[in-house]
Amino acid sequence: MKILMVCLGNICRSPLAHGIMKHLAEEAGLDWEVHSAGTGDWHVGDPPDRRAIAVAKQYGVDISRQRAQHFHAAMFDQYDHIFVMDRSNYQNVLRLANSEEHRAKVRLFLGDDEVPDPYYDNAMFDPVYTMVRARCQTLVDELMHVNKNA
Ligand code: 4NP
Repeated sequence: MKILMVCLGNICRSPLAHGIMKHLAEEAGLDWEVHSAGTGDWHVGDPPDRRAIAVAKQYGVDISRQRAQHFHAAMFDQYDHIFVMDRSNYQNVLRLANSEEHRAKVRLFLGDDEVPDPYYDNAMFDPVYTMVRARCQTLVDELMHVNKNA
C-alpha cells in the first residue's frame, strides 16, 4: 500500500498525517509506504515546522526527519491513494491529473471536511494533531481491509 498525504506547504498538516499514518500502520504490523508533498514549492527540502514536530513528539510520533517535497504529476502513478487536506489542495492536485485512474486516487483526507491550516495560529497545532490522528486511525482500519499488506 502506497499512500501520499498532500497539503500546501508540506511542513504542517501533511507531515503530521504522514508521520501518524506511518506510525499507526507500523503499530498494526503493516509495511505501508507513506509519504507527503505540498502543492506549493516554497519549503522544498525543509524539515516540518517546529510546532508540528513538537506536537507530534508530545504524542510519541517523530516527524523530524521528514523533508518537504513538491507534488508532481509522476506521483499519480507512484501511489495508490492520495489524500489532500483542503479543497484548494484538491483542485491543485486534480488539475495535474490526466486520466480517470489518476483522479480516482485523490480524496479529501477528511471526506467532506477540510483540515484547517495551523500555520498562522499556534493554538491550532494540538487540535489539528488530534483531528489528523483520529482520521488516520479510521483510514488504517478501512484500508487494511481493502488490501491487507499490499
Ligand atoms: P501546510 O501549512 O500546508 O499545512 O504545510 C502551510 C505552511 C506554509 C505555508 C502555508 C501553509 N506558507 O505559505 O509558507
